[in-house]
Amino acid sequence: MKINNYNDYEEAYRFSVQDPEGFWAGIASEFSWKKKWEKVLEWDFKKPDVKWFIKGKLNITENCIDRHLPLKAKDLAFIWEPNEPLGEARHITYLELSQEVNRLANVLKDLGVKKGDRVCIYLPMLPETIYAMLACARIGAIHSVIFGGFSAQSIKDRITDSQCKVVLTSDGAYRGAKQIPMKATVDEALLECPSVSHVLVLSRTKQHVNRVKGRDLVWEEECEKRSVVCAPELMDSEDPLFILYTSGSTGKPKGVVHTCGGYMVYTAYTFQNVFQYKAGELFWCTADVGWITGHSYIAYGPLLAGASTLIFEGVPSYPDQGRFWQVIDKHRVNIFYTAPTAIRALEAAGLEFVTPYKLDSLRLLGSVGEPINEEAWHWYHTNIGKGNCPIVDTWWQTETGGIAISPLAGITPLKPGFASLPLPGIQLMIVNEKGKEIKGNGVEGNLCIKFPWPSIIRTTYGDHERCRTAYFATYPNLYFTGDGCKRDEDGYYRITGRVDDVLNVSGHRIGTAEVESAIDLHDEVAESAVVGYPHDIKGQGIYAFCIVGKTQKPKEEIIKDIYENVTRLLGSFAKPDKVQLVKGLPKTRSGKIMRRILRKIAEGELSNLGDTSTLIDPSVVEDIIRDRIV
Ligand code: WTA
Repeated sequence: MKINNYNDYEEAYRFSVQDPEGFWAGIASEFSWKKKWEKVLEWDFKKPDVKWFIKGKLNITENCIDRHLPLKAKDLAFIWEPNEPLGEARHITYLELSQEVNRLANVLKDLGVKKGDRVCIYLPMLPETIYAMLACARIGAIHSVIFGGFSAQSIKDRITDSQCKVVLTSDGAYRGAKQIPMKATVDEALLECPSVSHVLVLSRTKQHVNRVKGRDLVWEEECEKRSVVCAPELMDSEDPLFILYTSGSTGKPKGVVHTCGGYMVYTAYTFQNVFQYKAGELFWCTADVGWITGHSYIAYGPLLAGASTLIFEGVPSYPDQGRFWQVIDKHRVNIFYTAPTAIRALEAAGLEFVTPYKLDSLRLLGSVGEPINEEAWHWYHTNIGKGNCPIVDTWWQTETGGIAISPLAGITPLKPGFASLPLPGIQLMIVNEKGKEIKGNGVEGNLCIKFPWPSIIRTTYGDHERCRTAYFATYPNLYFTGDGCKRDEDGYYRITGRVDDVLNVSGHRIGTAEVESAIDLHDEVAESAVVGYPHDIKGQGIYAFCIVGKTQKPKEEIIKDIYENVTRLLGSFAKPDKVQLVKGLPKTRSGKIMRRILRKIAEGELSNLGDTSTLIDPSVVEDIIRDRIV
């Protein structure tokens, strides 16, 4: 599985294109299967229908846990660092992981959870959160992890969409100086979720929680009563492993579905090769497990490799902006994987938060979630990596399941700002607006992938047609990423950002349509349009233009309500940075909002607004410009 040098990479890449089935079969055979697949791949992007390792039988948790027990039972699976720097870290071995996962799996089974049932996980960053995911996988239940920052409304929408039977949560969560209610938020969501029969509540903050009789159970009490042995459910390669909701350019978030076999093979392969993980090293991915990065590179990828991973409960700014660096020294982290928004925020805090720490355990740095600007890349390389740690800028998506474009640590020559080259198995194609391939180097266009890889999205839960229209219908026979990119003279890829109506705010994917519908619920708002603009720390900020008619209400009050509505309906991470109340929006005669113009205004590019002659009322543009928020 391991690529050791650049020649290996080139050879692996060539092989993966010439004989994809042979290539992936070789890698898949390194895992433990209950029954070998009969055929490696069947695919048709038109439907779309993609199947890998057909009729293979396995359980991913056997590969994450049991397979390591004979030799590595005492090795660390996790080190958990609590929110409070003076709190006690927890060290969890593979044996303990096995026991805890099995106990919890037995609890779920006794609650009537069966293969194929959906289970919602709404928890802070705790080892138990990973146990929860693996306990589901152990018994063949499909987990749907919801990021702890989401509101009751967002939880309700997700639970309803996938009809979850059980919810796993905690009383509360510590996040920096704040104590956040989790159970109370779940209670509110569940007022309208009849599919949920039980809620298992872990104690973290010891805050008071309501207990609904017959529905709510105490996690610790239930686990204590159960056996540490639980036979793994036999799963088909193509059985769903999890659903993870993500924002798109239209409507409500989509439930991206990943399956057992392909996701296992791809996350393990990419973890091993991108990070060049060596036995004994400590890997730290700072993402929340509520996002795909946490799924693939805190939970599954590292565990499949038998690696040791750090799980951090807190935030980078608590108790001060040096916390990441303090934790790296404290636990002697070797590989550190974070998002550009965090790097920029910590850079802005000043070097006085970095210099007290040695950071000499670091071998490798990683970046994920958004384009990393060259300036931040150099700061990271010089001040954190001390000039001698490679940086892997990893491009991928919830839908790709694992890293798709990235340097391989210490192997691929680096270029700041470039995700560099596709991993073996990833066949990229750049197309123009019409879907025509743009060949050669020194070009720019929309990024597509023309051949399936094992962890490609299989469907959007409950609505396969949505999967087709969102990803496979824009350009026939291609998977469309929604991103724009450049391929330079050396064939290196630089991702330029989304080309659709999806924003990337502090590495969080947010659909403009979601924010607009939250804003539009306000009585005084007739219509709104949300666009992104460049933001020094967050990457993108959110600018909302809202039409408000004649009203007695003071402007400030309406704006305050808008902020509150978005926070309540989506979560505070989706709160607009700027809200401008306007009389009208720039619309074409057919009633379409010309977002291009609003984007330019939000970006402050006023001299180059383009053609406004097709607007019904060009004067609205002048009004908006006059009152724009700088
Ligand atoms: C963006 C996160 C540039 C991109 C793993 C993509 C990136 C979206 C990079 C997916 C990167 C992710 N460079 N842009 N290294 N990594 N993106 O689903 O726009 O939360 O489409 O997955 O993040 O976000 P998602």
